[in-house]
Amino acid sequence: MAIQIRDATLRDLPRILEIERLSFPAPWSLASFQRELTLPFSRVIVAVSEEATGKIAREGPILGFLCRWLIADECHVLNVAVHPESRRLGIGALLINASIGEAKAERAQVVTLEVRRSNLAARQLYRKFEFEERRLRKHYYGPGEDAIIMELRFD
Ligand SMILES: CC(C)(COP(=O)(O)OP(=O)(O)OC[C@H]1O[C@@H](n2cnc3c(N)ncnc32)[C@H](O)[C@@H]1OP(=O)(O)O)[C@@H](O)C(=O)NCCC(=O)NCCS
Repeated sequence: MAIQIRDATLRDLPRILEIERLSFPAPWSLASFQRELTLPFSRVIVAVSEEATGKIAREGPILGFLCRWLIADECHVLNVAVHPESRRLGIGALLINASIGEAKAERAQVVTLEVRRSNLAARQLYRKFEFEERRLRKHYYGPGEDAIIMELRFD
């Protein structure tokens, strides 16, 4: 299956919201995503499948998305999710890789993100890209749910 990465538009938000709700216990609202699309330092990218019928390639459904902020020398990944039916196909890795590539091209020094301590899948994904677990925010997501701050430095 061929996967393309492109910028999200307002028309993509219903599907992004569907993936968000299937992925998180406290999902972002539609208004949150709408706001991200208006912020100059924010970018939402989507991974879409490309479906070929004969010689004609058509865009298939959105399978995952990522939201990042690029401010000064830091790229901060705020949100990333892949539809549950499309996990373990490399789509999360494609999205992270695209953001790392962009951050390098924009001469950022570091990519940062926060992850639940219990989210072993995401922690493993970030480790694969050599993110390091830097700090712990105790009970950040509620009682007993710590956040780990991870970062990937380019220097
Ligand atoms: C985390 C998430 C985005 C990963 O997306 P994905 O498309 O399934 O990930 P990939 O297929 O690209 O996996 C890349 C690597 O990440 C690691 N990984 C991904 N899912 C994993 C799992 N369930 N268990 C262990 N490692 C996992 C593996 O190292 C994997 O490489 P491999 O398949 O060669 O072993 C996805 O599980 C998801 O949407 N989870 C819910 C939302 C979420 O937790 N987002 C992150 C918030 S910080």
